[in-house]
Amino acid sequence: MAAGVSGAGRDEVGEAASDAVTVASALAAAAARIAREARSETARLDAELLLGDALGVRREDLFAAPERVLDLEERLRFERLLKRRGAFEPVAYILGRRAFRTIELEVNDNTLIPRPETETLVEVALERLAAVDREEPLALDIGTGSGNIALALAAEHPTVHVLAVDFHPAPLEVAARNARRLGLEGRVMFMLSDVYDDLPPGVVFDLIVSNPPYVTPESLRRLRPEIRGWEPHVALRAERGGMEFYERIVPGAPPHLRPGGALAVEIPEMRLLDVLSLFVEVEAFEDIDARNDLGGRPRVVSGRLKAPGAGGGADAADGGLAGGAENRASSGSS
Ligand SMILES: C[S@@+](CC[C@H](N)C(=O)[O-])C[C@H]1O[C@@H](n2cnc3c(N)ncnc32)[C@H](O)[C@@H]1O
Repeated sequence: MAAGVSGAGRDEVGEAASDAVTVASALAAAAARIAREARSETARLDAELLLGDALGVRREDLFAAPERVLDLEERLRFERLLKRRGAFEPVAYILGRRAFRTIELEVNDNTLIPRPETETLVEVALERLAAVDREEPLALDIGTGSGNIALALAAEHPTVHVLAVDFHPAPLEVAARNARRLGLEGRVMFMLSDVYDDLPPGVVFDLIVSNPPYVTPESLRRLRPEIRGWEPHVALRAERGGMEFYERIVPGAPPHLRPGGALAVEIPEMRLLDVLSLFVEVEAFEDIDARNDLGGRPRVVSGRLKAPGAGGGADAADGGLAGGAENRASSGSS
């Protein structure tokens, strides 16, 4: 009798064990499926991030418990996430968040997913800010999207105030939530503006930074389905061979910059010479510099506005320090 019971117990355990889905087996199967269905080049990483989310644990915790068995509810949750990934939805949209430098940001399909290359733009911007001799420098971020650049600057510079603008209200709502969650809403303000057109009059900045749309309509059609099919085209697409926004941002910058202030823009590598030429042609910038990203590709062009009398420069009156800009900007913030 006792032997029979223990025998039946062994069978049940044996059946359950053959059915059991562990962290390790779930990851292996999911990585293969993501590579096949979504043609992801980061299938294993995608699988780890999604399983971590389904189990409510950090990715690192998965490695500590590879034999942990998933219960039915966890398997179903993971399956729902894998279906979305199989439809090319980017992992960052599925998770609703993305890490950028030292901060984590909420993202959704109204915001571009912050890219690692853009971290180089923040690096250059921080270096330019370090050269500004003002206690509370004021920066402008054009095309803020999730607010990644503006918020990273405020997180990493102790006193900068940032006015962050976008042409579209939906990303600004996400950016404002990010600012609140990160406790940076006192130093980062958001407002709608078409590049410089709707800025509060008379305000001049110590730094203008932008990662504008720069993908040509032809290139957009050739992008991977998870970008083309999911990320907002208004965040990607630029006319005039991708130069549309640089042709507004670079020549338009001097009246909005304090002498000695800097402009730094992210670029696609094939537009390095075109954007450098714009900086030179304006005849208002000095110390013009190009910086490569971590992949070794040209990614950021920046320059400093010459002092008045040195061939250009802004002599616009200071329309208010950070507080003034905050007050005026807040009426348009979301
Ligand atoms: C390439 S995305 C950059 C988003 C974010 N700063 C980042 O680095 O991930 C460009 C952003 O510019 C915004 N944008 C498009 N047209 C604009 C315009 N005319 N004026 C201001 N922003 C604009 C888009 O909505 C989008 O958020």
